[in-house]
Amino acid sequence: MTQGFLALSILFGAVFVMFLGFQFIRVRMILVSAGFFILLTGAFASYANWLPQIRGEDDGKPGGVEGLKGKTVEEIAEMGKEIIFGKNRGIGERSIGKGQCPLCHTFNAGDIGDRAPNLIGIAKRALERVKDPRYLKPDFVQLESFAGSGRATTATEYIAESHACPSCFVVEGFGVPGTKDKESPMMVVHKPPIGLTINELIAVDTWLFFREGFDPPSVAEIQAAYEKFIPPPERPKDGADGVAVKTRFNPDQIAHDSDSTLDMIERMGCAGCHRIPTVDFAKIGVVGPLLIEGENAARRIVSPEYQEAIQKGTAHARNPREYVIESIMNPSSFIVPGFPAQKGGKSLMPDHFSKRFTYSAAEKLADFLLSLDKETAIQQGVDRLPNEKEGTLFPEKEMKDRVSGTPDKSGSPGPA
Ligand code: HEC
Ligand code: HEC
Repeated sequence: MTQGFLALSILFGAVFVMFLGFQFIRVRMILVSAGFFILLTGAFASYANWLPQIRGEDDGKPGGVEGLKGKTVEEIAEMGKEIIFGKNRGIGERSIGKGQCPLCHTFNAGDIGDRAPNLIGIAKRALERVKDPRYLKPDFVQLESFAGSGRATTATEYIAESHACPSCFVVEGFGVPGTKDKESPMMVVHKPPIGLTINELIAVDTWLFFREGFDPPSVAEIQAAYEKFIPPPERPKDGADGVAVKTRFNPDQIAHDSDSTLDMIERMGCAGCHRIPTVDFAKIGVVGPLLIEGENAARRIVSPEYQEAIQKGTAHARNPREYVIESIMNPSSFIVPGFPAQKGGKSLMPDHFSKRFTYSAAEKLADFLLSLDKETAIQQGVDRLPNEKEGTLFPEKEMKDRVSGTPDKSGSPGPA
């Protein structure tokens, strides 16, 4: 408010000084120039004022959970809900909390999950899953969460295993494209970039049961399930004061060009969907392409599909840098071939980044992504998926080893 007032007063001041300039001919040049400079100052002040002003909490608040001792089931469920959906967001915006689940999952009856199963009914479905022939005769990249962990036998254990070892059972049709449902695109949620603690996981699971009217399993029971699937050295602890380990994921906070690119990537949750060479916590995202824009961007622009998008007036980039910035700020302008989109042709990538990045921050991030290419990816051991049209980065044999099966050569565009 006060900033807006300041900007207005500067503007009025400028107009007044220029007006004086026209009254006093002898000092006209001086007054008009002075007025002009004040006008510029005012314009900049107003511009800065119009930039997005929302400021998130630096401590990564969404999902900050206290110890569970002495909490009622309702309170624990409420915490779980906040970990999944975060605090209230703007109207019409997808609501995403520390757990990042809504990046892929839907939660309400009737919503179609095109990236991941709708989690409605999971409390009941979980028990059916552990009796599924595909569960009982598993043929996945991982057969056990860790050597000797065994497999789930109850609904509580199935949900814990889904979170701790997504590839221990892959729901049909939702595997990483090209892996024949042997590998899950979901990340292990107790490890970065999500990094939920056991208490937070207990809260999430409590909510999954509670919200459908079931009596949730006790805290001790859910804890035992997680301890079955997460070996002691890997168990993420809550802070000494009972407060959850802090997360940097906070998509409500605006990215400025003074932020490091790593900060931006972590805060905005890009790693949930993309692998990004040189970024430690971005090695598993398979919803979107491997971000080697030093190579991809130039190739995309000249592709017939992109040229068609230009003809239609949805895409506008003339060079690789513009392409990457456009991809971040307006993902639906062009859908990378081989990647599924939402109904109506909208991108699966969130469309809120134009409100989360200042333009210069997006430029900085784009320049970083443009510095990454095939060589960087090979050094870093992150490979392309079979559905990324250009073919895999690594020789077919390695890809085979990775998914322990024959890669799907059809370049299938993922879950139908
Ligand atoms: C990157 C996308 C992604 C994110 C983020 C994600 N999931 Fe998943 N999830 C999937 C996919 C895809 C499947 C189906 C494949 C499989 O079985 O692993 C799945 C499966 C599941 C299942 C088993 C569903 C069933 O019907 O058997 C549960 C439970 C689950 N996720 C919970 C969660 C929770 C809770 C979170 C947040 C803490 C989360 N997921 C975050 C993609 C994701
Ligand atoms: C919910 C998943 C999701 C998240 C989160 C996400 N993206 Fe994407 N992104 C996609 C998908 C899917 C595509 C490919 C389809 C398309 O073009 O819309 C894509 C495409 C892109 C492309 C074009 C890549 C190419 O090679 O042509 C860039 C660049 C990109 N994303 C950057 C980012 C950045 C930076 C972030 C974080 C600020 C981010 N994405 C967050 C899903 C996601």
